[in-house]
Amino acid sequence: MAGRIPQPFIDELLGRVDIVDIIDSRVPLKSAGRGEYKACCPFHEEKTPSFTVSTDKQFYHCFGCGEHGTAVGFLMNYAHLSFVEAIEELAAHAGVDIPYEQQTFSPKSSDSDNLLNLLEQANQFFKQQLRDGSALAKQAIEYLKNRGLSGETARDFEIGLAADSWDGLAKALGKDESTFKKLQKAGLVNERDNGGYYDRFRGRIIFPIHDFKGRVVAFGGRVLGEGEPKYLNSPETPVFHKGSELYNLHRARGEIKKSGFALVVEGYMDVIALAQFEINHAVATLGTATTRAHLDRLFRYTDEIVFCFDGDKAGERAAWRALENVLPVISAGRQVKFLFLPQGHDPDSLVQEKGKQDFEKMVAMAAPLSEFLLSNLEKQTDLSHLEGRARLLSLAKPYLNQLKQGPLKQLLLEQLARMAQTDISTTRSQLGRSESKPDQPARRSKATSSTPANLSLIAKAISLIVQYPGLNRVNNKQIQALRDLEINGMDLFVDLSNLLDSNPELNTAALIERYRSTNHHKVLEKLAAQHHLLTDEALISKEFEEILTTLNKQRLDQTRNQLMEKVKSGQMTEEQAANQLKTLHNQRFKSSDI
Ligand code: UTP
Ligand code: MN
Repeated sequence: MAGRIPQPFIDELLGRVDIVDIIDSRVPLKSAGRGEYKACCPFHEEKTPSFTVSTDKQFYHCFGCGEHGTAVGFLMNYAHLSFVEAIEELAAHAGVDIPYEQQTFSPKSSDSDNLLNLLEQANQFFKQQLRDGSALAKQAIEYLKNRGLSGETARDFEIGLAADSWDGLAKALGKDESTFKKLQKAGLVNERDNGGYYDRFRGRIIFPIHDFKGRVVAFGGRVLGEGEPKYLNSPETPVFHKGSELYNLHRARGEIKKSGFALVVEGYMDVIALAQFEINHAVATLGTATTRAHLDRLFRYTDEIVFCFDGDKAGERAAWRALENVLPVISAGRQVKFLFLPQGHDPDSLVQEKGKQDFEKMVAMAAPLSEFLLSNLEKQTDLSHLEGRARLLSLAKPYLNQLKQGPLKQLLLEQLARMAQTDISTTRSQLGRSESKPDQPARRSKATSSTPANLSLIAKAISLIVQYPGLNRVNNKQIQALRDLEINGMDLFVDLSNLLDSNPELNTAALIERYRSTNHHKVLEKLAAQHHLLTDEALISKEFEEILTTLNKQRLDQTRNQLMEKVKSGQMTEEQAANQLKTLHNQRFKSSDI
């Protein structure tokens, strides 16, 4: 499994990518002069842009809702990526490979490595059982053939068999108690009440579930023929999370990119039957609703998703759930469509009956999200009278409010206005009136409450050094001399200065990212977002030096008081104290001394 990403690589990457490109490709930006860019904020609803992106700081900030961060933070917030995924995305954007570190020493990763290893062994075991010529194996192969699967497809999908035995797998892989515990952790065996372990999967056809990198992380098992439950899946384990894994993503992702869209279906057999017909860009959720995490995964490979649901009530419900989850992640350029199959069909049965071409024709006719949304809302009301049309707007409100600003939202508003037989501004104001609307003054005060005037001196100093890391080069010694001043924030200030001393190339974003896993991260982000209204370099240096001078005075005062206390309590003579104070005064560095 991939190791840690080395810190110097992250630093350099953040010095290389431009946050403006990263954001602009997702939220189109307009230049606002002096390396600043603006847009309507993607994190709250607004009509005039208060979302700003700074080239110099490599930082974004919204004056409306107070959201801010680096390019990494943006990808985490906006695209819901994990930290590592965000770094991977930036590296891909910059066209550089990540030099992952080996980390055999990390107990956490070797733990999941162990599980993955066992899961792969189990996979081999199941595959072998389907091919061992036993009576059940013959029956299983017959079943698969009857469902139209070729031997080649079965091989491609690594289909296997769990024999109808209580401990086939446990015996084959379980060597000692510690292995049994791991098998249990991997979801392969359960513990008996009276000691010992038994297989989870028994007498079932086995479908291995791979993560997007192709590692086996779980299994699904189907009964041969009738029986309950029809499918038994692995439980949640440290390496398997149903809510984010998609069946077949590792095989399909190349084809998803190539074909320009992903097909999302409900079942294992749907994916496999489609592949049998050379439709290789289908993935399935694993017996759960489509989640935000699923969607984020898919939108990394394509801008278009077509959901393909069974033509029954359950299928329609699942589609609506998917729609609700997809609304917040739709942005300009992204398309989501819904295909409802004829009553009683699923993709498996349909492609078997109609063949590849007809199936693809139906996919091409899938309804766009807007159509599915509006027709469904329309069904819930009666547009022939005024109350019914008013109801349409109130039904639409929670859905529209989840959409980001953009052309889709605008067009939906226009369409709703037509349907309700009213004008667009009435529609907008009906839909816009919401208690939690972030564009309101109460929320806005959050962002502007800490104007520079309200900041403490040390906060101002930190804010300046974070925004203009170059200041450390000239003032490093002065900063170090302040380290004994006992005020909140001094440790952080000195720490930042030390970090910059040994890594003078760090820019604002890289500096902030260094603190991501500490409890200083939030405050640094906030201070990086402060506006100082200082435009030229000379003024910035002057302001910073004035702050350092004042802090230095405070340090001398503090020391004088401490020395006086010592004299009072008899720990020191007056002469000793005076000498110490004199030395301190002499230690004071001015930038001109360097
Ligand atoms: P379906 O009931 O639509 O099954 O469940 P299917 O895919 O058409 O199965 P076949 O064609 O009869 O073999 C769709 C998906 O829901 C999950 C599975 O992931 C299945 O592929 N499911 C279904 C379960 O997890 N458990 C069940 O008991 C049933
Ligand atoms: Mn089916």
